[in-house]
Amino acid sequence: MCGIVGYVGRKRAYPILIKGLKRLEYRGYDSAGVAMIGDDGGLNVYKSKGKVADLETHCEEKDTTGTTGIAHTRWATHGEPNSANAHPHYSASGRLALIHNGIIENYVTLKENLMKRDIAFRSDTDSEVLVQLIEYIMLSNQLDLFQAMQVALHQVIGAYAIAVLDREHPDTIVCARQSSPLVVGLGADGEYFLASDASPIAEYTDRVVYLNDGDIAVLQLGKRLNVVSLSGERQHPKVRQIDVTLGQLEKGGYPFFMLKEIFEQPQCIRDCMRGRINVEGDRITLSAVIDYREALVAARRIIIVACGTSWHAALIGKQLIESLCRIPVEVEYASEFRYRNPVIQPDDVVIAISQSGETADTLAAVDLARGAGALVMGVCNAIGASIPRLTQTGVYIHVGPEIGVASTKAFTGQVAVLAMLALCIAKERQTISDELYKSMVRELTLIPEKMERTLQASEHIEKMASIFTYARNCLYLGRGYNYPVALEGALKLKEISYIHAEGYPAAEMKHGPIALIDSEMPVFVIATRDKLYEKVVSNVQEVRARGGRVTALITEGDEQIRHLADHVIELPDTIDCFQPLIASIPLQLLAYHIAVCKGKDVDRPRNLAKSVTVE
Ligand code: G6P
Repeated sequence: MCGIVGYVGRKRAYPILIKGLKRLEYRGYDSAGVAMIGDDGGLNVYKSKGKVADLETHCEEKDTTGTTGIAHTRWATHGEPNSANAHPHYSASGRLALIHNGIIENYVTLKENLMKRDIAFRSDTDSEVLVQLIEYIMLSNQLDLFQAMQVALHQVIGAYAIAVLDREHPDTIVCARQSSPLVVGLGADGEYFLASDASPIAEYTDRVVYLNDGDIAVLQLGKRLNVVSLSGERQHPKVRQIDVTLGQLEKGGYPFFMLKEIFEQPQCIRDCMRGRINVEGDRITLSAVIDYREALVAARRIIIVACGTSWHAALIGKQLIESLCRIPVEVEYASEFRYRNPVIQPDDVVIAISQSGETADTLAAVDLARGAGALVMGVCNAIGASIPRLTQTGVYIHVGPEIGVASTKAFTGQVAVLAMLALCIAKERQTISDELYKSMVRELTLIPEKMERTLQASEHIEKMASIFTYARNCLYLGRGYNYPVALEGALKLKEISYIHAEGYPAAEMKHGPIALIDSEMPVFVIATRDKLYEKVVSNVQEVRARGGRVTALITEGDEQIRHLADHVIELPDTIDCFQPLIASIPLQLLAYHIAVCKGKDVDRPRNLAKSVTVE
């Protein structure tokens, strides 16, 4: 989704802005632009369709001087991706330039009103309305930019993070946020950085302020950060420490972030468990469970809301919590949940799973659940993001920044947290025996090492991948805990290789997808030795009987399926409920290697965004 970068300081802004945009490339975008107040006092805006590198080429012969600037990567919502629709947008007089993330819902009405006053528009975007409205209010009421924004934003309905430059005030950026994240970095010497997440800021400063909804902030060189609410009250922003290292933001020798992140998983799961599982490896402590023990023990129902990959993790969480804690769990797409007037009781616990902590639909579901009086818990990765700040409690997955658009380590991190959460709640509710609890905790501590063994299959999978590049459709089958793994495997393939893929519960195949099976359609079956193993073997036989080509994920040493499958990938054994932590890895690798074979841009698949901050 769109990305914002800003800088006010004593250094040259352009290189900082371009570098910042590159750090945000992972969010997904189709055009980019930059605005600086040049050394001669002019406000220069440059924009181009395509990548940040295209913007750099476009800027080669231009005046890129100046120590104050804003920059943007756009993911088109209103108006096609072209340079006119790219941000920043000039105001009618050329005095202001604005960048915007989000969607303005009443832009048609606002635009019509402004056009009646002879204001001409240069783009098809909803965003341009903001800069025209702000300037119109500023000039007709003789206000400064900050005052004009306060008035203008009262007329705006929708979601926004905006940053605005005024040529008349070359050392200042004014920005505002409503339902779309914005982070201010406090640099040395009175300088400020601005971004839609901490990644472009991390290399300059570890002191940040996360703006809240309704905040308008003035970033003026050498002056204290001034934050005021939309209603005019002065805010006292909390300065927080971020601990993202530069290494975490770079590829570290891997050709793509996605591969790096797949390989990081053993360490990520260790980090996720560190300080939570004791050194003896037989007890889990989660402060969210300690702090909200009563509500969790008494919960009549748990509702998990999420989108995309996080929704798949939720499906695994459901099975874990229901089987260990004996609490009914419902899993909801946040986008559906928020609009269907769901029944939410005060003794429900709502868990919002979101890697970014900024997904607009999940955020809205959190609001709804809080409004209904439920305890809301976040399971997030991005520290200090909106969901962790808006929920009463939560558990961070602590897997470090995930840059590849296709989620990998965040998925396994989410599953690991849900496993720990289920075990903790089960212990408190006494729905698990001491013996089983301890043996499960011990098994969880062995998962990173088993992940490492699984990753050794990467070369084997790479060789196998070229066989599947011809495929137009693929089927992924699994049962029980491996059914969400099948869904996630199919999603990974679709996202980055653009091959259509479906995940199905293996037995359900008979009710439709079996009609599609022929020798042209690869079928990937997760057939590890678990409770449902024999049943999955029968499903594999059904595929074979129709001439289907089977690639099976099997438990090390299993000979039975080996004879039925065209290809096998061996996995270390673990207990059923932790199998997704292992089995998802070869499917991530498979999707990765197939996409690379097809020459795709794995980290930045077309049309997708890492952080979906619009509904
Ligand atoms: C986008 C991303 C997915 C992600 C989903 C939910 O679609 O491309 O990888 O799973 O959003 O994101 P969240 O940050 O809420 O987990």
